Amino acid sequence: MKIIDIIEKKKKGEALTDTEIKFFIDGVMKGSIEDYQTSALLMAIYFRGMNLEETTLLTKYMVESGEILDLSDISDNIIDKHSTGGVGDKITLMFLPIMAAAGMYTAKLSGRGLGHTGGTIDKLEAIPNFRTDLSIEEFKEKVKTHKTAIAAQTLSLAPADGKLYALRDVTSTVDIIPLIASSVVSKKIASGANHIVLDVKYGSGAFLKTPEDAQKLSEIMVEVGKRLNRNICAVISSMNQPLGRAVGNSVEIQEVIEFLKGNMEPDLKEITFTLAKKALEKANRHEDFDYFEKLIKSGSALEKFKEIVASQNGDVRIFDDYSILPQAGIKYEVKTDVSGFVKNIDALKIAKACKNLGAGREKKSDPIDYSAGIYLNKKYAEYVNKGDTIATVYTNKEGALEEAKALIESAFEYTDKKPEEQSLIYKIIN
Ligand code: URA
Repeated sequence: MKIIDIIEKKKKGEALTDTEIKFFIDGVMKGSIEDYQTSALLMAIYFRGMNLEETTLLTKYMVESGEILDLSDISDNIIDKHSTGGVGDKITLMFLPIMAAAGMYTAKLSGRGLGHTGGTIDKLEAIPNFRTDLSIEEFKEKVKTHKTAIAAQTLSLAPADGKLYALRDVTSTVDIIPLIASSVVSKKIASGANHIVLDVKYGSGAFLKTPEDAQKLSEIMVEVGKRLNRNICAVISSMNQPLGRAVGNSVEIQEVIEFLKGNMEPDLKEITFTLAKKALEKANRHEDFDYFEKLIKSGSALEKFKEIVASQNGDVRIFDDYSILPQAGIKYEVKTDVSGFVKNIDALKIAKACKNLGAGREKKSDPIDYSAGIYLNKKYAEYVNKGDTIATVYTNKEGALEEAKALIESAFEYTDKKPEEQSLIYKIIN
């Protein structure tokens, strides 16, 4: 079998067989297929697509390219959650302590920021001394003891995804449904949980722009997960505007702690509680939003987050003193010269501004500034008067301020009539 024939076949739009997909993944792993050939096949897939059967096989061989975590000695009811990526998306950090407070086990391997989107591991590393580089043994031990742990995705799980992803990132082949589906689901299956809740985003700040595409992706991921014996569902929600008010690393950790202390932004609450509800349903428990509200109000979810931070060596003084988190040298308030209700805040523009301020990376190896970020003083449907502060910028890069200010100003749209409150949830795919 030759890779050039497989590329040719996909170029003509034909479906690949089980043996051909296995040959491809084996070749990527062994290094017998060159990066330029892999890239050519990825581009052919980008234009010609893959059917459900091919996507399932690609996922299966990506899972088999590495280790599969066995968590069965901890529990038969282990939950995992994955977001397809967004702006201000700190949901995992509220979801995990809530699940633990509800008595459920969660085992979470997360990634770093990708493209314009933020990464949970980067956010956690804003906490001084927080360890995300847990070995598999340490990770399992912590899940057993504390009901939850969160670590950086290890290279030994679904390593084929790591290789394909690196090439997709530099060949503009990220935003295509079969490749996103196999990438996400292979990592989730290799991570060992039996119940998986996917948080699928669409909109300006997401990889997929329309709810229809997000639905297609969700249906495929759920079907592939089921075919590979996982109890899986997807919650589809809008990422047209940033989630919550904080975008960055230190600022988002602060917002998470405030949420767990009971100061919950409505959009964060809607997404977190919906995912928590679906996760419990997967494990045959049926709870409503009041139940999760009680876990917050009683302080038990906050205590669980403290326990996670302490168990992973993080500085727990952050819970009483936010100045322990990295602080930016420059704090700048962006004021508006219009009056009206906020009609929209373009998530992508806010993400770009945030990245330029130092909170994200251009290349994988770039360092990030944990203290950089943006706090949205005004959000959707709130009224602003001329001269009000709409956002606060935190950075150490004075040169980046002007561009960030322009991006933030252009991200905000206003209207004279108060916009209606709207649910962010588009659909749930079971
Ligand atoms: N997240 C992933 O893990 N993979 C993708 O391809 C896109 C988002």
